[in-house]
Amino acid sequence: MTDTVIRNISTDDYPTIIPLIDDWWGGRPMSAMLPRLFFKHFQDTSFVALQNRQIVGFVVGFISQTDPTQGYIHFIGVSPQHRNQGVGELLYDAYFSTARRCGAHHVSCLTSPTNHLSIAFHQRLGFDITPGDTLVDGIQTHRDYDGPGEDRVLFSRVI
Ligand SMILES: CC(C)(COP(=O)(O)OP(=O)(O)OC[C@H]1O[C@@H](n2cnc3c(N)ncnc32)[C@H](O)[C@@H]1OP(=O)(O)O)[C@@H](O)C(=O)NCCC(=O)NCCS
Repeated sequence: MTDTVIRNISTDDYPTIIPLIDDWWGGRPMSAMLPRLFFKHFQDTSFVALQNRQIVGFVVGFISQTDPTQGYIHFIGVSPQHRNQGVGELLYDAYFSTARRCGAHHVSCLTSPTNHLSIAFHQRLGFDITPGDTLVDGIQTHRDYDGPGEDRVLFSRVI
């Protein structure tokens, strides 16, 4: 298998990643949720995965300013051609070790209840689903969490 290199994200990665992500999310319009500020101000806790010098995945995370014991992962994506090879797990490992070094001992993130792939991935990586107020496809979900009609599944785990 091709070696995967993990490095911190940089502002220069923004124009490479942004045109890819709607496709990586199966055609859902996601790019507006990842403005350049994340590439500029969250570099210490965000990473890209490279194979043959090409970006094949990325994770954007940070440490909560409100509670520095809490890490938060905003986005993770792996190119459809490079999935199920452990790239997502490598990116999360890079984030977890950095977050631990920063003093965090919990990490949370969220996803849409229709994103079964993301739900399976997070459960496999040891995240628990936080009890919600409704069930969607049998999954505990927080209705309207990110605004009307924007239901979310919330994950958390100890690191
Ligand atoms: C979710 C995503 C990041 C996973 O990346 P990946 O590189 O394929 O994941 P990995 O290969 O590191 O998988 C890690 C573990 O999760 C499991 N897993 C990954 N995708 C899975 C799926 N669709 N169903 C079941 N298990 C899955 C793997 O089997 C692996 O477990 P194993 O070691 O027991 O085999 C990738 O599918 C993706 O980019 N999806 C679209 C974007 C998205 O939805 N992001 C998450 C919400 S922000």
